[in-house]
Amino acid sequence: MKKFYLTTPLYYVNAAPHIGHAYTTIAADILARCKRLRGEGVHFLTGTDEHGEKIEAAAKAAGKTPQAFADEYAAKFSGLWPKLCVSHDDFIRTTEPRHERRVQAVFETLLKTGDVYKGVYKGFFCVSDETYWTDTDAPPDEKGRRLCPNAECRKPLTPMEEEAYFFKLARFQAPLIEHYKAHPEFLQPPHRANEIIRFVEDGLHDQSITRSKFTWGVPAASAPGHVVYVWFDALLNYITAAGYNPPGLAQADASAPGAFEALWPADVQFVGKEIYRFHAVTWPAMLMALGLPLPRTVFAHGWWTVEGAKMSKSKGNFADPMEFAAEYGADAFRYFLFREMPFGNDGDFSKEAFKKRYNSELANDLGNLVSRVSQMVEKYLEGILPETQPSGVSLAPEVLAQAPAVAKAIDDLAFQEALNLIWAVVRRLNEHVDKQKPWEKAKTDPSAVPGVLFDLVWCLRAVAVWIEPFMPQAAGRMQGQLGFTSPTSWDCEDVLKGPCGARVRKEAALFPRK
Ligand code: MSP
Repeated sequence: MKKFYLTTPLYYVNAAPHIGHAYTTIAADILARCKRLRGEGVHFLTGTDEHGEKIEAAAKAAGKTPQAFADEYAAKFSGLWPKLCVSHDDFIRTTEPRHERRVQAVFETLLKTGDVYKGVYKGFFCVSDETYWTDTDAPPDEKGRRLCPNAECRKPLTPMEEEAYFFKLARFQAPLIEHYKAHPEFLQPPHRANEIIRFVEDGLHDQSITRSKFTWGVPAASAPGHVVYVWFDALLNYITAAGYNPPGLAQADASAPGAFEALWPADVQFVGKEIYRFHAVTWPAMLMALGLPLPRTVFAHGWWTVEGAKMSKSKGNFADPMEFAAEYGADAFRYFLFREMPFGNDGDFSKEAFKKRYNSELANDLGNLVSRVSQMVEKYLEGILPETQPSGVSLAPEVLAQAPAVAKAIDDLAFQEALNLIWAVVRRLNEHVDKQKPWEKAKTDPSAVPGVLFDLVWCLRAVAVWIEPFMPQAAGRMQGQLGFTSPTSWDCEDVLKGPCGARVRKEAALFPRK
């Protein structure tokens, strides 16, 4: 059985994780958790990108070997994810032998098939972006300088001429266009697709994929003195980690038969917009050269600014995910990232907006509702729900009918839309409490109280399942308060059925006001 396979980019180990890295990773986690809750087999891969000139230079500046430096930073990423409740199944480091050996074998394979050939590289290199540019990509500006064409970077480029091995990217122009047209779900969201299609239609150049001026990379066996270019190396992680056995890989390094096919092709690959070309052009061309199927969707999300400014080393305004998680909890951080802006757009992360949403939507709308309802069950029903649903008006059918729409929004990567749907239910339940006034009914019509509370608990149980992908800890605590554990179904039928006579108890606030 093929698993649902989803990936994040591999993060460079030259800087500590910030909210941008957390954003891509949590997006993948939301989808992974939602699929698992719905009974699908899931494989979720993340990891670190550890080779290249940039890492070598950063290690040197820190007075460390590149490997010791990479170890230190890789641990920052692998240590952060559990704190943000990220439930990845594998963490690949590009310095691991399982990856390096496969990269070497891929290089040899493509050299044999002719998709990799030897030539001379003349052009420009951006150390900061680890990107090569041609003469036409980066024409001199009015002062005669050549600057990195990436608008986010604009650093001076280094001119270079060296013997290098090239990947025949240009030959994949027509097959790529054909693939984009035949599979509209491949390039997502649609506004990014147009950019890519235009770029490919303008013509592709073969790409230099080895370097010989430094050594921190995967050595290319048939090309002594050359290491594989960091992007070519890193992109391959999506198949090396999945156990791809390229021709020529030593038997001792090979994965079990069928292991790769149980994962590949990936179902969704999450990346930020600035690395979309690598993932939407180079990567599928590499897969075509290897005769492998292409991922179903490669999705490019937008960028966060922080307090209105681009995050940058010089400004020192890198928002640290741990700071927010420590103050507000990982759940609130995850919630904010996906409620604040549609996935795919750009947005701003501000402390004020964060606190506002926390207090009004989490502490008030949801947390307070759960406290009120559980407190009333304690007060009026001694904490025990009736064995069966009392007759009377029930909101449950209307609420439960939302289950497929919430799941579809998450499947479509419309995370904000999913939260909007859930919050519409939360608001509806708050209105219902205010209208039904169980505290008054307890005096005027006590026999009606169990029905109202039973119904509210049922509806809240559904909410407690649907928020799990976004806020796994709060979901677990909410489920505990509402008298059930381990939901097994997204549509909540089993959750609603049992356990009969369950104990509901008020506990500490899910989201204490700040
Ligand atoms: N190592 C490459 C990727 C290789 S994948 C085979 C790389 N690494 S990175 O450390 O720079 O991380 C890139 C990821 O972080 C992207 O998904 C990117 O969008 C995300 N972010 C970095 N800054 C960001 C924001 N300010 N906002 C949102 N996400 C951004 O590129």
